[in-house]
Amino acid sequence: MKTRITELFGIKHPIIQGGMHYVGFAELAAAVSNAGGLGLITGLTQQSPEALAREIARCREMTDKPFGVNLTFLPSVNPPDYPGYVKAIIDGGVKAVETAGNNPVKWLPPLKEAGIKVIHKCTAVRHALKAESIGCDAVSVDGFECGGHPGEDDVPNMILLPRAADELKIPFVASGGMADARSLVAALAMGADGMNMGTRFIATKEAPVHENVKLAIVAASELDTRLVMRPLRNTERVLNNAGVERLLQKEKELGASIKFEDIIEEVAGVYPRIMQGGEMDAGAWSCGMVAGLIHDIPSVQDLIDRIMSEAETIIRGRLEGLLAA
Ligand SMILES: Cc1cc2nc3c(=O)[nH]c(=O)nc-3n(C[C@H](O)[C@H](O)[C@H](O)COP(=O)(O)O)c2cc1C
Repeated sequence: MKTRITELFGIKHPIIQGGMHYVGFAELAAAVSNAGGLGLITGLTQQSPEALAREIARCREMTDKPFGVNLTFLPSVNPPDYPGYVKAIIDGGVKAVETAGNNPVKWLPPLKEAGIKVIHKCTAVRHALKAESIGCDAVSVDGFECGGHPGEDDVPNMILLPRAADELKIPFVASGGMADARSLVAALAMGADGMNMGTRFIATKEAPVHENVKLAIVAASELDTRLVMRPLRNTERVLNNAGVERLLQKEKELGASIKFEDIIEEVAGVYPRIMQGGEMDAGAWSCGMVAGLIHDIPSVQDLIDRIMSEAETIIRGRLEGLLAA
């Protein structure tokens, strides 16, 4: 399949693996790229720019296909060494960067000068248009159903994607709630040039996370995610567990007076405990409603092959067939 996204990134299939904290290591990024998609290393999971440089080198040993790095700009008192991370990306010869969390304008000049294609992930049409106006090459449009941070507008992809298609000139991928061939064909029908998946890629053989995490996703239904940190305007969609219930109880009791410090136990330092330790009740970790569509733990290659072959069947069989009838 050829779309503006496959052309832009030089990939075979219009499928991107979104950056995921403590999931997006070289093993997963390389597996996705080897299967014809665009795999992404999650920059900030690496504790320093030097560690990111080593992770990029490790990924390059595992694939000769294009892969990228996710750079998430978080609101923080002591920001990470972003100039150092950007330098590691450029020096590492990476050709694609997914930015997220905040306006990437400050980092575009060095990235573009190095010939790096930038896809900005955002949850609102106005932010997508901003990304287009500052020179991003593409956007990843993340609907309300997504795992992670859906923003505060709560617009699901059935509305958000056609709205984005109506307004944007640059290519975009649909993100949030994407799991299979039906997701891909629907995304293309709504004007997207491909899809970005997060949660679906965690439940794969190559995802370098504890088996408990994969089993939790397979066991979960579409009713099992919760929105946390809404009162802090830092909404995150997470899989429900005992830690999340405790957090929601605090939100209920403290109301508008809640501060980050009140919930630190349920959100800080949780990712390594969950993803590496398999402590499933440790606290809040991002997971999409799409868990309800995930019933197996295939290899990345099998997953992507299945999506692409079933997409062809849907387009040539079901959709064409409807017209002929
Ligand atoms: C466990 C997990 C961690 C994530 N961490 C990040 C992150 O660090 N930076 C980022 O930009 N997006 C992050 N995301 C969001 C994904 O890149 C992607 O946009 C989202 O998962 C898409 O929704 P889906 O899960 O329904 O496919 C994360 C998602 C998950 C599930």
